[in-house]
Amino acid sequence: MNFIKVTEQVEPFVALIELNRPKELNALNHELMGELHQALVQLDANEAVRVIILTGNEKAFAAGADVKQMADKTAIEMVMEDRFKTWDQIKNTKKPIIGAVSGFALGGGCELAMTCDMIVASETAKFGQPEVRIGTIPGAGGTQRMTYAIGKAKSMELILSGRFLTANEAQSYGLVNHVFPLETYLIEAIKLAKEIASYSPIAVQLAKEAINHTFETHLEEGLAFERKSFYLTFASNDQKEGMKAFIEKRTPSYTGK
Ligand code: CAA
Repeated sequence: MNFIKVTEQVEPFVALIELNRPKELNALNHELMGELHQALVQLDANEAVRVIILTGNEKAFAAGADVKQMADKTAIEMVMEDRFKTWDQIKNTKKPIIGAVSGFALGGGCELAMTCDMIVASETAKFGQPEVRIGTIPGAGGTQRMTYAIGKAKSMELILSGRFLTANEAQSYGLVNHVFPLETYLIEAIKLAKEIASYSPIAVQLAKEAINHTFETHLEEGLAFERKSFYLTFASNDQKEGMKAFIEKRTPSYTGK
C-alpha cells in the first residue's frame, strides 16, 4: 500500500486507516481510492475488526479528488472510468466507520468524511465543497449528503459559494459529532470506536443498516442524478478553465460556455 497505511488493531477490534499522500494534501487519486477500497473489503471481512477509523494527517484529511488527474478528461471519459465504484464500497461497508478529521476536508475529502458514519474533528478542521470554484460540482455525494446533514439553505450557500465551515460551525450544523483539540481528536475517535467495539457486532451492524435505511432509497436516486450532472460539467469550457487555473495557480475566467 503506497497511499494509505492500515493498522489492523490500533486497539482490540479497532482498525485505523490513515490516508498517506501528505505532499498533495491527501488528494484522492485513483491509486489511493483503489487501496482504500481494497482495505475496506478486507477489514469488513475480518472478524477481529469491529469498528474502522479513517483519518488523514494534521494538515489535511483530504483536499478533494485529484484535480490534476481529471482536469483534461472529457465527459464521456469520466462516465466510462466509473470512478465511483470505490466510493460505493465505502457506503456498503457493514462495520461502522468513524472519520477522524483534521485540517482540510474539501470536495471529495468532505464527501469522504460524510460517507463515514460519524465524524470526530479537530478544532483545525475545515469542511467545504469548493467544486464550483473550479468549474464543476460535487460528484461523490456532496449535494446529497450535505443537504441531509445540514439542510437546504445552509447546503445551498456552502455548495454554491464554495465557502468553508470551521469545525465548530460544522458541529453546530449537525455535520460533525464532536470537536476536540488537535492533540486529542484521534485519541477521542479511538475511545468512541472502542466503546462501540465493546458491544455486539451483530447489533451494531444491524443498527447501522437500519439508520441508513431511512434515507437510502432517496439517496440512491440523488447520487445517480448528481453523478450525471458532475460528468456533464466535463463537457463545458468552464470546467477545463477552472481546473487549469487551479493547476496553474491563477484566477479562472468563466464564460458560461
Ligand atoms: N488535487 C490535486 N492536487 C491538489 C489538490 C487536489 N484536490 N489539493 C491540493 N493539491 C496539491 C497542490 O496542487 C499543491 O501541489 P504542488 O505543491 O505540486 O503545487 C499541494 O497539493 C499543496 O497545495 P497548496 O499549495 O494549494 O496548499 P495551500 O495550503 O496553499 O492550499 C487548499 C490548500 C486550499 C486545500 C488548496 O490546495 C485547494 O484549494 N485545493 C483544491 C480543493 C478543491 O478544489 N477540491 C475539490 C476537488 S474536485 C472534487 O473533489 C470532485 C468530487 O466531488 C469528486
